[in-house]
Amino acid sequence: MNVYDTERMIDVMAPEGYEETETPEGADLVVLNTCHIREKAAEKVYSDIGRIRKMKNAKKNNGEDMVLAVGGCVAQAEGAEIMKRAPVVDMVFGPQTYHNLPDMVNKSLALKADGEKSRILDTDLAVDEKFDQLSKKAVKKKPTAFLTIQEGCDKFCTFCVVPYTRGSEFSRSIADIMADAKKLATAGVVEVTLLGQNVNAFHGVAATGEEWGLAQLIRELAKIDGFERIRYTTSHPHDMTDELLEVHRDVSECMPYLHLPVQAGSDKVLKAMNRTHDSATYIEIIRKLRERRPDIALSGDFIVGFPGETDEDFEETMELVREVKYAQAYSFKYSPRPGTPAAQMEDQIDEDIKSERLAKLQALLKEQQTEFNNSVIGKMLPVLIEAPGKTPTTAFGRSPYMQAVQINIGDKSVEDLMGSIVNVKINEGGPFNIQGILA
Ligand code: 5AD
Ligand code: SF4
Repeated sequence: MNVYDTERMIDVMAPEGYEETETPEGADLVVLNTCHIREKAAEKVYSDIGRIRKMKNAKKNNGEDMVLAVGGCVAQAEGAEIMKRAPVVDMVFGPQTYHNLPDMVNKSLALKADGEKSRILDTDLAVDEKFDQLSKKAVKKKPTAFLTIQEGCDKFCTFCVVPYTRGSEFSRSIADIMADAKKLATAGVVEVTLLGQNVNAFHGVAATGEEWGLAQLIRELAKIDGFERIRYTTSHPHDMTDELLEVHRDVSECMPYLHLPVQAGSDKVLKAMNRTHDSATYIEIIRKLRERRPDIALSGDFIVGFPGETDEDFEETMELVREVKYAQAYSFKYSPRPGTPAAQMEDQIDEDIKSERLAKLQALLKEQQTEFNNSVIGKMLPVLIEAPGKTPTTAFGRSPYMQAVQINIGDKSVEDLMGSIVNVKINEGGPFNIQGILA
């Protein structure tokens, strides 16, 4: 989502004459788009501000200035604190107000020109106006694109800051999404990834007044000429409806890959997390999904060391992973977040134990990921070419299962292949990416 937001910020600043730079050094405007999901991510902001301050001073010594902005979820949660702690910051804005970036920047520049201090703070949480503003912007030609269809979350998992920083759940209207989607297809997008913190809770209102779920939306998007691949992320087990499972069987554009976080394998922990599902329900969803799409690749998120997690609870997470068999996964040590219920819980787990459990879990997940990647060796896979590879004779693309593929393209030109789906004979696996030869 932050990648998507950053791209949109670049779009809204383009008409003002701004363009993306390779490094912040020397830039007229630096935006730190921040993440508040775990403590480590949030802490980075202050060290980054320190780094940028030096660059800003260097510019000042040349008689120029830099506007330094902090955006995203840390800004949303700690905006006033940032302003206080870091006077070098000119403006702070949350994830729902960045469409106002040009106004904020111009205001900041005007204040500075008048010799005043720029101290702009905009952390309103209403979402609808943002999308209206953003939809007016032109889109760049690229084979893959994100399309936000839903934002925010009402689930209130006890560890998570998202409901507080991104706000409550909001689904865009069908008409707006379809208009954006058609624009993307016209610009040459082949693969679209539908985004939302709780994307499968999507319930957009159609022109007829009826509400569509994600399943119906995917079926409709699949009809758009040019869209050959559709993905969506991130889903919650609670909203994994039968209709959506059926889409994985019926709609060939819907890719055989699903990111479905479970967080933990112990029902006691899941309850304390307020996840609203138990491990058996999760495993049943996976079974139904595999019944409909046997080759589906699964990905998940895991938290180890949630307050009260015992060795036995952790072992249940390991058991669940062994049962499900993931193609890919993200795993984290529990990180207490300000204002969330779990941060107040007793029985916080020692860092050492968290680290030990994380290492065990990650070793298992890496083993599974390697096994999945190796299982396609010798197969022919359709790969969407997205970028040049590491050498002039290679290209980078993704398999239907989201695997990163390095492709030997011989004397073919990457430019000619960009955006096409080509057959690749896979000849090498491994934990992180796979390799193959253009057929
Ligand atoms: N500590 C650790 N991991 C977290 N996540 C969310 N909040 C926390 C937290 N407080 C993880 C969850 C979520 C992913 C995006 O980040 O696994 O699915
Ligand atoms: Fe956070 Fe996801 Fe839970 Fe919502 S469903 S509170 S975004 S972890």
